[in-house]
Amino acid sequence: MPKRIAIIPGDGIGPEVIGVAERVLAKVVHSFRAPLVWTRFDWGAEKYLREGVTLPEGAIEMLRRDYDAILIGALGDPRVPSNQHAADILLGIRFGLDLFVNQRPVKLLDARLCPLKSVTEKDVDFVVFRENTEGAYAGVGGNFKRDTPDEIAVQEDVNTRKGVERILVHAFEFAVQHGRKKVCMSDKSNAMPYGHGLWQRAFSDVRKRYPQIEARHLYVDTLAMEIIRNPSQFEVIVTCNLFGDILSDLAAALLGGLGAAPSANLNPGRVSMFEPVHGSAPGIAGKNQANPMAAILTTGMMLENLGFPEASSRIETVVREAIHQNVATADFGGTLATREVGDWICERLEEDIC
Ligand code: NAD
Ligand code: IPM
Ligand code: MN
Repeated sequence: MPKRIAIIPGDGIGPEVIGVAERVLAKVVHSFRAPLVWTRFDWGAEKYLREGVTLPEGAIEMLRRDYDAILIGALGDPRVPSNQHAADILLGIRFGLDLFVNQRPVKLLDARLCPLKSVTEKDVDFVVFRENTEGAYAGVGGNFKRDTPDEIAVQEDVNTRKGVERILVHAFEFAVQHGRKKVCMSDKSNAMPYGHGLWQRAFSDVRKRYPQIEARHLYVDTLAMEIIRNPSQFEVIVTCNLFGDILSDLAAALLGGLGAAPSANLNPGRVSMFEPVHGSAPGIAGKNQANPMAAILTTGMMLENLGFPEASSRIETVVREAIHQNVATADFGGTLATREVGDWICERLEEDIC
């Protein structure tokens, strides 16, 4: 049975970078004899503006039933200031499929791209695990006396013992399985004693089950500073939904920017969704300027998840070679267009026929 992939190119630069990712997939089918088939879905701003439809009815059940993985570009369009379609589609899939792990690797592929002095590739290699189904993203809240001078807005931060514990356990298990020795949990329990006090208590229980792992806690403000001051001290970071979102963009700066940051939304053993960390970048959309490497590395994460680890590590090697040879878009100091970077990477993958 081939592995079935649902592809959602999305908005802005999404279709451009996912176009390259699809060509990479085609090379993987050919070079690695990987049985993969995929279907494209046009969910995004265009469809929403045209038909009023965001995530079509029955979509979650269909994805769960008919697909092994989802590859998504980005969602967000200046013509939809409410961001309603992105919330319905992106958060709708994360929540609907209970993809509670957002895994965001921070791996420097070329020291030249890191803005910090004297940092080498081995100094920046950690993974951020972001809780992905609750916290400030739960959508619990409301407005009272809206659009009056007395307006009140409430946005609740929802933390459940089950939800917090499962992401903590996942981070420790990942460390054990991948030979990592350190896990750092980050919260803001000094200012948010109820919600993040729960993180503290769950962490104190879970860490006892992993005596071989050096477990540490940092408040998120300090962690943000330490990630820049000395990134080599981190191996695994685990945190809540909102802090994970912010820290993963911060950490991407160490890699040269969002053009190099892949991610996976996982429910281990079930259909999962893979997306670059970056957004739809409306400022460069449609100009063939977007860096496709984050989408390509994301495709690599998906292939590993689908059971093709050789293809995944080959993709990472080829992306690294491309960067070393300055086969890159402007954000990485190159002069090439999105499609030209894609051409070069696909040609190198073609040479691998086994
Ligand atoms: P963004 O990630 O789209 O862009 C931030 C900056 O990085 C911009 O300067 C952009 O040009 C640059 N950039 C991003 N990706 C790039 C790439 N591949 N190559 C070169 N440069 C790249 O973030 P934003 O501007 O805050 O958000 C734009 C829209 O995207 C918003 O609607 C936002 O909600 C949405 N968004 C969606 C996702 C997602 O779907 N996963 C993630 C983040 C933001
Ligand atoms: C991300 C994005 C999303 C998030 C937005 C578009 C809702 O920034 O995937 O990092 O905050 O999770
Ligand atoms: Mn983000």
